[in-house]
Amino acid sequence: MLIKDLSKFCGEEVTLKGWVANKRDSKGLVFIILRDGSGLCQCVGDINILGEDSFNNAVSLGLESSVILSGKVVADERQVGGFELQIREIKILQDVKNYPISKKEHGIEFLMDNRHLWLRSNRQWAIMKIRNRIIYSIHNFFQSEDFVQMDAPLFTGNACEGTSTLFETDYYGEPAYLSQSGQLYGEAMAMAMGKIYTFGPTFRAEKSKTRRHLSEFWMIEPEMAYFDIYENMDLIEKFLQYVIIDVLKNCKNELKTIERNTSMLESSLQPFPRLTYDEAVRIIKGEQDVNGQNSITSLEKLLDETKSKSEEITNEITEREQKIKTPGMKKGEINFNQNKIDQLKNDLKEIEEELRNIPQWINSAKNFEYGNDLGGSDETVITRLFNSPIMVYDWPHAVKAFYLKRNPEDSRFARGVDVLAPEGYGEIVGGGERETDLNMLIEKINEHKLPMEAFEWYLDLRRYGSVPHAGFGLGLERLVTWICKLKHVRESIPFPRMYGRLLP
Ligand code: 4AD
Ligand code: MG
Repeated sequence: MLIKDLSKFCGEEVTLKGWVANKRDSKGLVFIILRDGSGLCQCVGDINILGEDSFNNAVSLGLESSVILSGKVVADERQVGGFELQIREIKILQDVKNYPISKKEHGIEFLMDNRHLWLRSNRQWAIMKIRNRIIYSIHNFFQSEDFVQMDAPLFTGNACEGTSTLFETDYYGEPAYLSQSGQLYGEAMAMAMGKIYTFGPTFRAEKSKTRRHLSEFWMIEPEMAYFDIYENMDLIEKFLQYVIIDVLKNCKNELKTIERNTSMLESSLQPFPRLTYDEAVRIIKGEQDVNGQNSITSLEKLLDETKSKSEEITNEITEREQKIKTPGMKKGEINFNQNKIDQLKNDLKEIEEELRNIPQWINSAKNFEYGNDLGGSDETVITRLFNSPIMVYDWPHAVKAFYLKRNPEDSRFARGVDVLAPEGYGEIVGGGERETDLNMLIEKINEHKLPMEAFEWYLDLRRYGSVPHAGFGLGLERLVTWICKLKHVRESIPFPRMYGRLLP
């Protein structure tokens, strides 16, 4: 019996198994908010029904105690989920004292150290449910489009995305690398199947702390024989919109729990603007406006607004700090204000971070050097100007991977495409059309100083039945982070692996 199914049992006797998410009591009644993984339900115990002993045990239950509750389901639209359980019997499996995560504000490091418990909180629960739906929807999309799912190896003998982020391991005395991408294997399989996708973990040694980088993340990599870069972009758009529609339809409750304003997801159901690298650079540098907005002046405005917000919050903190010093103030009111102060201080930390970031964004946008790859701040600058993801294609070949096809009309560019998510999120997809010219590939492998013998098998794909083909890689956590509008990618995966963290 699951809480999510209670509506089918109105008026009947049921048994719920779960954990105490919240609890209060008043005048012979105890109110337990029970969480069973499928939802939350208020369960009410009456001293006259439970008897004094059982009632007292219920009243003293700590947060996250495990309990089995039996009783009658009644409709009550004021309650979470719209139903209430009138408890007849309580079975306590474990009465927990001093659960480490309380209702007060906790710092992020504390919560990360307690990730194994933090996953039970409403917000984390909702994020994980959305992640689950996204995974389900990704498989549905590709399976319904006749793609074959394939698992690429995780131990590899060669780099795919450059050597700087490889994790080296010992493979029977030989060095092996944890896979950075399944793409090269995907290309081989596409020559056997036509259309394939991989969905597996990938590893990158990212020795810096950013809000976008994990050391272990899940990637979806479709690869399609006989696709060019334009057909690739059409597929990316169709795919991402399919997932967004599915989440909007099936995760209403979860999106509400995390207070996601979904207007940007809805506006992302329009065609994604497609910009060449050249155009993107002009926009970033403020040489070309977008929808009447200029990248530099709009950032300067944002900076002013953020400054006044910071002043407002600082003033409110000072006011409340004065207030709780008032003699004779009730304890409840002091606590309320102290909690508010803690919250405001957390908000202020974020605003101060923005105050440090925005001038850097302005600076790096103004001084962007044509020919470079886009950095995180450049992506933030350009995506702020759009209300859907954008696709940037035809990149200077020197800044992109060795396997990308050179643009036949202008050999300065390679046929790569990046999808940048709006609201400042930046790159969620990287892909492109693949080089089919054997000699060009050999030249590129040498240029990137990659060991030729490890790529001989890959070159065979150009020797035996070579065809135009294309594909892309979607970072699952980057997509979850944007769809849920999280501040940091670490909340998009159950147990994040990133620079400086291996536990829990
Ligand atoms: O752009 P990337 O490096 O492209 C590839 O790996 C290609 N082989 C994909 C392909 O064409 N088959 O990575 C693809 C995506 C990025 O757009 C980003 O979403 C995600 O993978 N990604 C990361 N996500 C989290 N943490 C990291 N350190 C990531 N590095 C890349
Ligand atoms: Mg990339």
